[in-house]
Amino acid sequence: MALIAKKIKGTEDILPRDSFKWQFLEKVLSDEARVYGFSEIRTPVFEQTALFQRGVGEGTDVVQKEMYTFETKGGESLTLRPEGTAGAARALLEHGLYNDGLPIKAHYFTTCYRYEKPQAGRQREFHQFGMEVYGASDPIADAELICAASSIFDRLQLPNIRLEINSIGCPECRKNYHAALKEYFSQFTDTLCSTCMSRLEKNPMRILDCKSPICKEIAEGAPKITDFLCEECDNHFKKVQEYLNAAEIEFTVNPSIVRGLDYYTNTVFEFISDSIGAQSTVCGGGRYNGLIEELGGSPLPSLGFAIGLERLLMVIEAEGLEIPAPEKDMLYIAALGDKAQVKAFELVREVRETGLKAQFDIVGRGLKAQMKYANKIGAKFSMVLGDNEIENGKAMLKNMTSGEQTEVSINDAHIFIENLLSADLASEMN
Ligand code: HAM
Repeated sequence: MALIAKKIKGTEDILPRDSFKWQFLEKVLSDEARVYGFSEIRTPVFEQTALFQRGVGEGTDVVQKEMYTFETKGGESLTLRPEGTAGAARALLEHGLYNDGLPIKAHYFTTCYRYEKPQAGRQREFHQFGMEVYGASDPIADAELICAASSIFDRLQLPNIRLEINSIGCPECRKNYHAALKEYFSQFTDTLCSTCMSRLEKNPMRILDCKSPICKEIAEGAPKITDFLCEECDNHFKKVQEYLNAAEIEFTVNPSIVRGLDYYTNTVFEFISDSIGAQSTVCGGGRYNGLIEELGGSPLPSLGFAIGLERLLMVIEAEGLEIPAPEKDMLYIAALGDKAQVKAFELVREVRETGLKAQFDIVGRGLKAQMKYANKIGAKFSMVLGDNEIENGKAMLKNMTSGEQTEVSINDAHIFIENLLSADLASEMN
């Protein structure tokens, strides 16, 4: 039979030897979310296709080209979430979370699915950590959210990630902007890609984030949204900048940032690293004052961001930062013979009850192979149990680093654990 041992293009396995890196990130990120007052939200991996069409926007690359959409046996069109914001907003509406007292602050870890051309930092299944705030219109909320993202990078000691911000205004200021963009892009109707041609009438702003190199080059000369902001949006943006300055968060204003999703209004921002190649945006987000209404709710000014976890790990590795290695096994017991094996089973259970990691042989290997395994898993201490040890109630506890041996009693589990802990303490003091 043919071996089915190939992962789907654009997906990655997270292997046991690497999962500690993910667990480390998840801990740092959820700790940061906690201190900022966010609680976790978990939503399903698939939603009605219409949610993303309306939420993310019909004219976006994500909806037009990248969604994993399928029809169920019942004839319903579902889509694997391409991002986390729309699903979280749907849950907020469905469960009336806005009645719980505003603002609502929710964070999430999700897998996302986008049918993009895979390359370094760009996968078809990838992971996001996101933070969303619902029911906050004041520019101080924008500053606080950006501060939360920034403090994640500080906590991870990644000073080389820079922050770029922009404002893309409200639907009112965008009316004039759209007209200016239409006029500009109409000069290039023979060179724009076919998707952008179709965007020209309905949503010319989307041409600004087309991934085609030709459209990208044309977009460089396009009018900038910041020249079209209405007074209210301009003031909002100025205030955000004032607050960021007050919090000593460095940023540059980049009028080219428009983000690739339709729901954004006003402040948008990206955290960028120059050390991971072309897919350099580690975090993207902004305000989305119209999304909840777009999904059928009452207007609720909201904002959020998401960090791509694969990219974040790439930055950590590129910057040469060490993620703390997983805790070693405290004890490995090698056992020879039935009685010894039962004793080993009993002792490791007692040790595990104290919360320490302990293992023994469960595959019936010889002594040499068992010790090789103890080395491989990096056990701090090992102990050999055979007929003699069982008879005498004593065994030698070996420090696997120094080779030092200490005789320990094995008849009383409490005494055994005390001996193990004091041997560990002594080894740490040496
Ligand atoms: P986004 O910019 O599309 O925004 O994605 C956020 C982050 O996800 C990116 O900055 C990047 O790090 C990562 N990412 C995106 N696509 C890929 C991919 N194909 N492979 C690997 N990583 C990727 C959003 O998704 C918004 N929902 C963010 C947001 C939350 N806005 C408000 N709230």
